[in-house]
Amino acid sequence: MIFGAILAGGVGSRMNIADVPKQFLPLGNKPIVIHTLEKFMLCTSFDKVYVGVHPSWISHMEDLIDKYINSKAEKVCIVPGGEDRNSTIFNIVKSIEEDYGENEEDIIVTHDAVRPFVTLRIINDNIDAALKYGACDTVIPATDTIVESKNGISITNIPIRSHMYQGQTPQSFKIAKLKKAYYDLSDEEKDILTDACNILVKRKMYVHLVMGDAANMKITTVNDYKVAQAMVGGMAID
Ligand code: CTP
Repeated sequence: MIFGAILAGGVGSRMNIADVPKQFLPLGNKPIVIHTLEKFMLCTSFDKVYVGVHPSWISHMEDLIDKYINSKAEKVCIVPGGEDRNSTIFNIVKSIEEDYGENEEDIIVTHDAVRPFVTLRIINDNIDAALKYGACDTVIPATDTIVESKNGISITNIPIRSHMYQGQTPQSFKIAKLKKAYYDLSDEEKDILTDACNILVKRKMYVHLVMGDAANMKITTVNDYKVAQAMVGGMAID
């Protein structure tokens, strides 16, 4: 089976402009998380789309689904988010297993709620790559030179730019493979490895690259939010 996992369990501390987490802020005529969820609803391959939401915001999310997703609401399931992003993913994995059992071939497509410009092409490419290779990450080639500094004062390395990519989401996995890597980590490693693909990379497991899109930006700061608003104003995304 194939499951969507929209990660909306954060509080958006880097964008402190309203008393709601950023995924609930309006973008055009609906909240950011609804744009994202609607993109997932366009994909007919999903058996169910889970949304991990901060426990204080579950009833708000239920209201939004009633209002905006009504006719397809039975395809959506809200799950309490966890303390960090990976914990939200694993709360969703736990719910999938409670609902459908453990199946070696099941796929999960994890995606930031605050990337509303994901496309159906990117979602479908993730599903194909996860089925074929067991794990994939969505990336775009780095356009800026990446400068590494371990102390924040001087340069330690400048990697060859053509080898550098910027990570986006979705990140998609055979659930069994993701669990194998994650449950093998120490608590200390779990604190450091905040990126789900990095968990597999550190265990020397293969992760395939799927080409993303510069428009598939993450809304992290107030400036990102302004850019996203301009994008909605400038192109029809409904
Ligand atoms: N996320 C999540 N559960 C958490 C933390 C984050 O599902 N415990 C989700 C966020 O809701 C977001 C995505 O992961 O959709 C990317 O995280 P980020 O942009 O860092 O969001 P926040 O954690 O909300 O932001 P900040 O770090 O500024 O607090």
